[in-house]
Amino acid sequence: MKKTIEELQSKRAQAEEGGGIKRVEAQHAKGKLTARERLEILLDEDSMEEYDVFVEHKCTDFGMEKTKIPGDGVVTGHGTINGRLVYFFSKDFTVFGGSLSRSHANKILKVQQMALRNGAPIIGLFDAGGARIQEGVDALGGYADIFLQNVLASGVIPQISVIMGPCAGGDVYSPAITDFIFMVKDTSYMFVTGPDVVKTVTNEIVSAEELGGAGVHTQKSGVADCAFENDFETLFQVRRLVDFLPSSNNEKAPVRPNVLVKNEHDYSLDSLIPKSPNQPYDIKELVEKTVDDGDFFEIGPDFAKNIVVGFGRIEGHVVGIVANQPMFLAGVLDSDSSRKAARFIRFCDCFNIPIITMVDVPGFMPGTKQEYGGLIKHGAKLLYAYAEATVPKITIITRKAYGGAYDVMASKHIRGDLNYAWPSAEIAVMGAKGAVEIIFRADIGDEEKIEARTSEYQARFANPFVAASLGYIDDIIMPHETRFRIAKGLRTLRNKKLSNPWKKHGNIPL
Ligand code: HXC
Repeated sequence: MKKTIEELQSKRAQAEEGGGIKRVEAQHAKGKLTARERLEILLDEDSMEEYDVFVEHKCTDFGMEKTKIPGDGVVTGHGTINGRLVYFFSKDFTVFGGSLSRSHANKILKVQQMALRNGAPIIGLFDAGGARIQEGVDALGGYADIFLQNVLASGVIPQISVIMGPCAGGDVYSPAITDFIFMVKDTSYMFVTGPDVVKTVTNEIVSAEELGGAGVHTQKSGVADCAFENDFETLFQVRRLVDFLPSSNNEKAPVRPNVLVKNEHDYSLDSLIPKSPNQPYDIKELVEKTVDDGDFFEIGPDFAKNIVVGFGRIEGHVVGIVANQPMFLAGVLDSDSSRKAARFIRFCDCFNIPIITMVDVPGFMPGTKQEYGGLIKHGAKLLYAYAEATVPKITIITRKAYGGAYDVMASKHIRGDLNYAWPSAEIAVMGAKGAVEIIFRADIGDEEKIEARTSEYQARFANPFVAASLGYIDDIIMPHETRFRIAKGLRTLRNKKLSNPWKKHGNIPL
């Protein structure tokens, strides 16, 4: 017995040391924390319970039988975040570069299955060199098993991936299937094939940072949602995100008690819309003045900035916000912004989170670049996502709602529950000038006539009354009462019941 206890203590100590002091020092020298240090920040104090500390790899090739480290390069288990259960796996770069062996994969699979069975989010911390090169195909099988679990859990429990070092080869596809990817600036990168392979295959010389750093994925590719300064800040933001999410699709997101919006009016919003219809303003001002305490968690702030998406709370209940941003490209819908918003809307719909849409959109982006890039299919994703969503949907049109973009942005026609417009709303097929140049083509060249026709069109359509008279807008509300009206609307929708026709699954235009 004594011997067994000593062995137990020694193995635990060995597991906790990871790849040894030198490798831990090298990890720290790169500005990175170790797998276990990260978990101390991510989880509530003393809440962590680890599984499979004694698991070792089974590889006997290349002398691997002589190097076994208990835990095999990944720390797995469960803990709590602000008292709520989460499962985790945290890759340990100091052990075989965090690379994935069959045993390592089995440990991840175990917590994935537990999280799914018990209805709790799973968080993966990535810092690894891909498949364990000494193991070959067994490692590939391990990856595929993990991907399958990711897919089965999609829409059932929230899955979050945090990239905190290298994430290459087999490691990239699991995060890509999960709901959110956060990256650490300067120390993390993601790519399917690294700079060396890129050079061999395409002759392109590129650094890891240029190929797949946090800047690339949060600004250019949109693969990752958010990037933060360091390990600490990133893990803190994961904790903050988890507070907005339900534990599974069987639950609602946690409610902050005792927040009641009483006739609260913010008169500064009455002057938010500039005098000129072409002048931009920051839609985030409206977002922040609508949610409780101005607390808004923006998802994808650096990608497709012409649309703003993220989580907030109203009367303590979590909502998803989708808002056109006139500050960037006049808030136009293009391929990237459509994809970004569609994915966010689908997340909200999977997880019972009502969607508040703020509309100021001049239409879809014209031009060959967009059309060649498949704008029709990408725009259709957004339309599809809004139309299939059965969660409560409240829409506020602040200014422009032109053309197809009016239909797409949670209009009444695609089951918006409450559709409001500010007095400044312009709901029309297109802007007055463009419309006149088409329907009065013969008058082009006669400035006076064109101007008169434009004013006529403007007076007829640049207002919310036509749509309101048709019942497409439920009410025209003053900007200052927006938060109050949304709060009241959400109260009426708490028990909303709506379902779509039975199907195996829809066929979203991917
Ligand atoms: C085994 C690995 C490893 C791997 C790193 N190590 N990657 N061991 N399998 N895949 C080990 C190293 O031998 C080293 O061990 C330690 O981890 C640290 O690695 P370094 O190279 O010294 O670190 P660094 O300079 O920071 O470079 C990190 C790295 C590099 C960029 C990740 O290690 C690298 O390129 N690794 C290989 C990446 C790769 O090609 N993986 C296979 C992808 S294919 P010691 O003992 O010296 O500390 C793949 C297919 C799956 O994943 C597809 C499924 C769909």
